[in-house]
Amino acid sequence: MKGKKVSETYTLKTELVMPDDSNNLGNLMGGKLLHWMDIVSAISAQRASNRTVVTVAVDFVEFKLPIPQGSIVILEARVSRTFTSSLEVRIDVSVEDLSTGNRKHSHVAYYTFVAVDQSGRPIPVTPVIPETEEEKQWFEEALRRRELRLLLAGRLDMDQAKNLQEYIYARSKKE
Ligand SMILES: CC(C)(COP(=O)(O)OP(=O)(O)OC[C@H]1O[C@@H](n2cnc3c(N)ncnc32)[C@H](O)[C@@H]1OP(=O)(O)O)[C@@H](O)C(=O)NCCC(=O)NCCS
Repeated sequence: MKGKKVSETYTLKTELVMPDDSNNLGNLMGGKLLHWMDIVSAISAQRASNRTVVTVAVDFVEFKLPIPQGSIVILEARVSRTFTSSLEVRIDVSVEDLSTGNRKHSHVAYYTFVAVDQSGRPIPVTPVIPETEEEKQWFEEALRRRELRLLLAGRLDMDQAKNLQEYIYARSKKE
């Protein structure tokens, strides 16, 4: 298959949480983290496509852990799957405590980009090739995430969302 390996789209960004990035409780502001995620994932999508990309959707992001000022934030992005003109990027965020060196995985998020031409019109992208078991799993699961996104955006009907239906059915059987 012609295309880039998922590992070739890997992009790393490391940030220090400064006072300007923090809220009144001394923790990183959510909007700042979303901004860093947008940058690291856009670079990953551009590495995959060698095209200008624009953000078209950001999946639900849950802020479970506060990130204190002074922490090191590590953002890792990889293109999990491409479609016709769109690319899904997975971003893993970890927080490093400099005093102990401990690292904790804090967030995972998916951003979707569209590759565009000079006039801002969508253009096709080549596929990415998953190699590891983890990459293959992200690649498979991307189908149902795409269906959910397009369903919520009113661009797809439930009867067209086959992967999502199968997933919901399998989950309901387990419970
Ligand atoms: C992205 C943009 C070019 C898409 O234009 P469009 O007219 O919707 O184009 P299309 O209908 O051909 O869709 C293009 C792709 O976007 C995807 N897409 C559109 N809306 C989407 C959504 N809400 N969620 C996920 N994907 C979406 C489509 O599925 C399609 O993907 P595919 O080619 O891989 O199948 C246009 O919406 C745009 O310019 N948006 C502004 C982007 C921007 O400025 N971002 C910065 C943040 S403000």
